[in-house]
Amino acid sequence: MKIVRPEAQAIWQKALEPKEWKAVDAIFTGDTEEDGMGRWLFPSGQLGETWPMEWDGITFHGRFTSFRHVGVFPEQSSHWHFLSDMVREAAKKRSTPPKVLNLFGYTGLASLAAARAGAHVTHVDASKKAIGWARENQQLADMENLPIRWICDDAVKFCERELRRGNTYDAILLDPPKYGRGPKGEVWQLLDDLPHMVDLTRELISKDPLFVVLTSYAIRSSFYAMHEIMQEAFGDLGGKIESGELILRTEDSARAISTSLFSRWIA
Ligand SMILES: C[S@@+](CC[C@H](N)C(=O)[O-])C[C@H]1O[C@@H](n2cnc3c(N)ncnc32)[C@H](O)[C@@H]1O
Repeated sequence: MKIVRPEAQAIWQKALEPKEWKAVDAIFTGDTEEDGMGRWLFPSGQLGETWPMEWDGITFHGRFTSFRHVGVFPEQSSHWHFLSDMVREAAKKRSTPPKVLNLFGYTGLASLAAARAGAHVTHVDASKKAIGWARENQQLADMENLPIRWICDDAVKFCERELRRGNTYDAILLDPPKYGRGPKGEVWQLLDDLPHMVDLTRELISKDPLFVVLTSYAIRSSFYAMHEIMQEAFGDLGGKIESGELILRTEDSARAISTSLFSRWIA
């Protein structure tokens, strides 16, 4: 499957021949913004909504959405490798499975990777559709027997309730959009709400923590901002904080496209 999507960061001359740009299965005609609306054109004839994809042996669906998204954020692969290694190691040493909370979890690749590595996963997303796609991916990956709780809720509300219940998690992932809405219309504005959200994750982290991974898209900011917010919340717990940008490399690795900012606290 070859698709063409606009990318605001790709400001250089095209390297491929024009005929290669034409020989594709789908073209997104819409806004370049991460959550830009638009529609897909199919030069070689209409295609189904989904197509099979695979990451590290996990089968899932790529899908055409009315957004620029294709049902997966491939640049998150470095996070999935990281969490798989961390969880697998911890699961070997502990008497109970590590508890992982995946906030803003979308189609669930991180949740499937964590569950396969031995974690007990709680996946939270505000979109019923995204939760449905994530459960579909669980079936496709033949992982229905793995312990994943799928929760359709507002991430802030869910975390505040978990705190009141006294629940904690050994590892937390949060990948909020720039702007979002909870199932009951709760408004999420990243630059306004992120500090409180990160503080909530600090209070939810267990006494035997592994890591917290924050990723953010489409904000005019530097990864230093993410680094400082994590340093403020987790600095006193020791461990280390790694921050930077998630990138995608062109096939010949000559070029890199920055897709998002991240900061990882590792206990
Ligand atoms: C950028 S995507 C996350 C991508 C995901 N981390 C991945 O790797 O596949 C953001 C997700 O946040 C969800 N979302 C938006 N507002 C939300 C809210 N208030 N509470 C929970 N989830 C929300 C959206 O439905 C979307 O699935």
